[in-house]
This record gives sequence, structure tokens and C-alpha cells, in this order.
Amino acid sequence: MLTSFHSRPGRRRFLAGAAAATATVLAPAPFVLARPAPIRIGVLLPYSGTYAMLGTAITDGMKLSLAQAGETLAGRPVEYIIVDSEASPQQAPQNTRKLVVRDRVDVLVGPVHSGVALAMAQIVGARGAPLMIIPNAGADALTRELCAPNVFRSSFSNWQTGYPCGKVMADDGHRSIVTITWRYAAGDEIMGAGAEHFEALGGRVIKHIRVPFPDVSFQAHLSEIASLAPDAVFAFFSGGGAVQFVRDYAAAGLKARIPLYGPGFLTEGVAGAQGEAADGIRSTMHYVDDLDIPVNRRFRDAYRDAYGREADVFAVQGYDTGTLIARSATAVDGDTSAVGDMAAALEGIRLEGSPRGAWQMSPAHNPTQTFYLRDVVDGRHRVLGVAAEALADPATGCTLA
Ligand code: PHB
Repeated sequence: MLTSFHSRPGRRRFLAGAAAATATVLAPAPFVLARPAPIRIGVLLPYSGTYAMLGTAITDGMKLSLAQAGETLAGRPVEYIIVDSEASPQQAPQNTRKLVVRDRVDVLVGPVHSGVALAMAQIVGARGAPLMIIPNAGADALTRELCAPNVFRSSFSNWQTGYPCGKVMADDGHRSIVTITWRYAAGDEIMGAGAEHFEALGGRVIKHIRVPFPDVSFQAHLSEIASLAPDAVFAFFSGGGAVQFVRDYAAAGLKARIPLYGPGFLTEGVAGAQGEAADGIRSTMHYVDDLDIPVNRRFRDAYRDAYGREADVFAVQGYDTGTLIARSATAVDGDTSAVGDMAAALEGIRLEGSPRGAWQMSPAHNPTQTFYLRDVVDGRHRVLGVAAEALADPATGCTLA
């Protein structure tokens, strides 16, 4: 044993140590076994700002899933290391390196914001480790040209959430739209996909209005929409910004004149706070509250019991993230250094137990899933039909398959 001069133990401590060593030798086997090291799950999600409620719902959904798995994975206890992303792309590289390099997490979960995701995935994809699961951010590139063997998504691509809505607006008989959203990857891609589909079906986009993220000063834009007088408005906002936009839209007197459409995020998790202003808004999304399948009913009950709130799509994405973590960790019997084998366990996986209904991991690591047409009645989402069955992102430029 190497003992430096300064730290040489005194006789009393040495004896105590010897006694402990003897006790260890004599102790029955269970006391000798070291407690297995925890599996450290690094979480980079927003807990402040406009997306705070999304970060909370994802975290709660993931924790519920892993609690149901017994808080241990292949015998290793689960430990969370949680960082507030503040939905800030500027801080994303530093936050990612803290979790990956300093804290050496076994699995990385995050984020909500597409810009944060692009920064994270480039770092984690280039390192080839750890396994990263994106529980929301939809940036198309993540599962297209930037796809990586160790990066998976449990949520959606932005394209998937906007594209079906283009057809809904056309089918509802609208000929012209204005799009309005925050100016960043999610807004541009969701609006772009819906508008492209709408135009392909003969519709016309009068104007794309862009607001800096996360601004909520909508008045001038609403006046402009009133004067442009499109048949419909196609909008993406989410979280706190969606509450404000939908309320302001109704307060400006536009709701009765120009129907509002969007990806489901426009009302998801916030329909209660939007009140009457949300009633009747039609949207497309890979989840609906009242999806009448046993796994969804059980999930919603368990979530309500655990947190005293209703589940939403973000909670579902968190829950499925927990399932993916559990499947990959048990596949390697808890040896999270085997990143390639963990990833292999998720290739093409079919999640039968998802509250959104069964979905399949595409070769580009993005869910292939059904999108529903829904509306809002008294603060709750109601399923009106299927907008797109088993919709896969085009995955252009991904060379994984
Ligand atoms: C995104 O930035 O990718 C994003 C954020 C919030 C949503 C959906 C997508 O509700």
C-alpha cells in the first residue's frame, strides 16, 4: 500500500481499519458485494422560459416509466443529473460538455428546442458516445444529414408534424393561408412542410410571418393578418408562447373570421390555460388525450396519480424515452460502455407499450407513427380521425440504413 507521509494513518485509525477489514472478511456474502454503480442519466431540458412546462412534462413522463421499471436497470440504480437548458442554443455546447465530459453520464436525454438539439447532437454524434435520446426537438437534420449511430429520437421530426396539416386545410376547402411562427428551425420546418403540402394541393401561401424566439408581441402581426384576410392561418407556437398567441388571436376578433390551424403543439398541454380561445382549433399530432387504447388509459391514470396533472404529448414522449433507456440498458446487462450494443437494441424497435399507440423506430432513428386530426372541446383534445397513417420522415441524406 502506498502511504504518503502526510496521510499516514495513526495507530488508532490503523486498528480501526484492520478491524473493519476483518469484519469485511468475516461478513456474510451479501455485505461484501459492492452496491452497483448507478446508471447516470443526463437530462438537458428547459425548466424556465416559454418551454418550461414541456421540460417538466417530459421529465415526469420519463421518471414515471423508470419508476415502473423499479428505479433500477439491470440491477443498477438510476440517477438523474438534470440541467436547465433554458432553451438556449448559445449555452447548449457548454451544457452538453458538462454532462458528457465532466459528469460522464451513461445516457443523455434532451432537448426540447431544435436549435439546442443541433448543437448537442453534433458534439455527441462526433464522439460516438454516450447514447443520446431526443425526447422532443424536431429539427429535421437530426435524423437526416446529421443522423448518427448513437443518436435516437422518441418524438417526431418537424416535417412530420406540419406535413399532414397542409392536406387538412386543403380538404377543409381553404385556398389561401398565412403562416406565423417563431423564426428558428422548428418554426421554419413545421410551417414549411405544411405549406408545401398545401401548395401541392393547389393552395396559395399569401405570407410567411416570422417572430423572433421567444417573443410574444403579436399585436402588429394580428393586424396584418386581418388586413391580408387569408382563408385560414397556419401557426406554430408552443408552451407559454402558445397560450399567449391563441388568446391574442381570439381577443383580436380573428377566431370567428379566420380559422386557426397548426401542429398539435399549438394547443397541446395548454388548452386549459387558453380557455375558450382554443375551442375548435384543428391540429395534427401523433397523440390525442382520448386515444381509446388500454395502454393510454393506464398511462394517463398513473401520470395523474403521480403528479396531479393531466398527461400530454410531451409526457408521452418522456415516457417512451424511459422505455428506450430501459430496453437499451437491459440489452447490455447494465454495461453502458457498450454504446454500439445499446444502439443495436434500439434499431428498428417497435414500442407496443406506447400511450400514443405502437410505433416503430425508422432506420434513421426517428419514430414512424400515426398522425391524428384533432380539435379542442372544453380544454380537451378529441380525436376526429387519422391524418396520416404510419408516417415516416423522408430521412433525406441519412446514410445509416
Ligand atoms: C422544437 O424546437 O423542435 C420544438 C419545440 C417545441 C415544440 C415542438 C418542437 O412543441
